[in-house]
Amino acid sequence: MPQERVLIVDNERSVIAMAADALRALGYAVVVAESGEDAMAVAGRESFDLVMAGDTLPDLDPAALVQQSRSLNPNASAVIMTDRSNAAAGFKPTSTASRLVLAKPFGEDDLKSTVLQALEKRDVTTEVLRLRTLMPLFEVSSALMSEVKLDRLFDLIVDIVKRETNADRVSLMVLDESSQHLSIEAAVGLPGEIVSSTRAAVGQGIAGSVAQSGEALLLNGAVNHAWAGEGEPITSAICVPLKVKGRVIGVLNSSNIVRQGSFTRSDLDMMTILAGQAAIAIENARLFEEVDAKQATLEQLLGELLRAQEEERQRISTEIHDSVAQLMVSASYHTQSSSALLAQSKFDRARDEAEFATKIIGKCVKELRGIVTELYPPALSELGLLGALQENVEYFRRETGVACRVLSATLPEQLSPVQEMVIYRVVQEALNNIWKHAQATEAQISLDTNASEITVEIWDNGKGFDVGGTRRTKSQSGGVGLLNMRSRAQMLGGNLTIEPRTGGGTRVVLTIPRSSPDNLSRNSQPSAKGGVG
Ligand SMILES: Nc1ncnc2c1ncn2[C@@H]1O[C@H](COP(=O)(O)OP(=O)(O)OP(=O)(O)O)[C@@H](O)[C@H]1O
Ligand SMILES: [Mg+2]
Repeated sequence: MPQERVLIVDNERSVIAMAADALRALGYAVVVAESGEDAMAVAGRESFDLVMAGDTLPDLDPAALVQQSRSLNPNASAVIMTDRSNAAAGFKPTSTASRLVLAKPFGEDDLKSTVLQALEKRDVTTEVLRLRTLMPLFEVSSALMSEVKLDRLFDLIVDIVKRETNADRVSLMVLDESSQHLSIEAAVGLPGEIVSSTRAAVGQGIAGSVAQSGEALLLNGAVNHAWAGEGEPITSAICVPLKVKGRVIGVLNSSNIVRQGSFTRSDLDMMTILAGQAAIAIENARLFEEVDAKQATLEQLLGELLRAQEEERQRISTEIHDSVAQLMVSASYHTQSSSALLAQSKFDRARDEAEFATKIIGKCVKELRGIVTELYPPALSELGLLGALQENVEYFRRETGVACRVLSATLPEQLSPVQEMVIYRVVQEALNNIWKHAQATEAQISLDTNASEITVEIWDNGKGFDVGGTRRTKSQSGGVGLLNMRSRAQMLGGNLTIEPRTGGGTRVVLTIPRSSPDNLSRNSQPSAKGGVG
């Protein structure tokens, strides 16, 4: 039993009564109107699958009625009922593609077959519309897969929207979350000065209110908006939010200035679906750019790390060459000389030479100790992390006069040597920086741990500095201490933040996972900071 709804309007009561009875008998839901005014009112209120309109009502324009009906149901079909003389003369109402003509007077059979034909046409239209909706969706989805450059993606989106809604103007606005303003990132049909100067606050104007409410808007009639430009009134506009997981990230606008006719519900539906796909594509491209930037930072860090490692090797080699190696050569010379003197029974001189060699070897051991300390502070193995930090802080206090203390709420029993070394080196560099740059009178180091992370905070009450300016790059001083701290944290899957401290000074926070993958082997100690930091 068909359930379609039919609106019949004609000024001949007998025609209406016959058609209504016949269609109701066939199971259709029928609403009748006897004037153009009544019909327009009903069509604006209720959705119909088929509109049957007589063409002799003085106050009815059948084309306007069909359009009114399609604003609620874009797939509504239409049949124009005309008298036989019109039909015989080949009368065709305007836009015949979507309307059928039924000549009056008509019998039940004619009526039935025309209605069936009209509804079949409606089904075909629905299918075409569905395909029309799917095609751009497919395109946007393909763009999602292939276009990862944001600016090119923006252009692609406005092009697709323009084509699919047949709009005169399309613009894509992106929301800046920090300033809560929308600005146009891509547009077609809009004057350049409007594109570059338009900035809408959330909540203001059409786009601003759509961004605030998250609800799409379809406006027909004169639309007063900045997109219009001088002397070109907008007659119809659609504005839909770009949303990702319920969060508005921008707005898609499309408007008509010259085309006769207005956007329909189906244009709105189409743009809403497109906006959903576009928003996902934009979010993906943003994520891709973020990953790209992170990759570049990682590559830079890795480069710095390798360079520092190389410099460190060179430094150790030079130090061994200049001190230990020279001393050993000298010691060996004196022991040889001692042996020769012994062979000649010159015991006093032989003893002097041996004592000299012993002194040199003593010096050599001291030098070696210094080098080893730089590589892996013996205090770490002798006193443990907390003890080693306390020893450092004591030295720092004595040398700088800065009041400094170590607070340790809880520390896990067993930290890996690499974790201890990373914490030790980061604190060491933070203290060095306070000493060299901060002009502080007070500083504090605190260590804490929870089920998943170890957190180390170092703050000072000094003059602070522009953290953003030194981020990711070498500082103006050419120093790489901060960069080294970050790369040490990242080495263990952790994170390092440096920020201004409330009340003045600087706050450095190192966070490393408790079960950090020691991606350096436990046997190989991380290289000492050497000349940097
Ligand atoms: N606690 C701090 N207070 C004030 N300024 C700081 C502080 N820490 C770092 N800075 C600023 O940040 C810059 C970068 O620090 P970084 O440790 O990277 O380099 P450096 O200390 O100048 O040289 P290096 O560490 O290689 O010996 C410093 O030159 C300094 O201007
Ligand atoms: Mg430094």
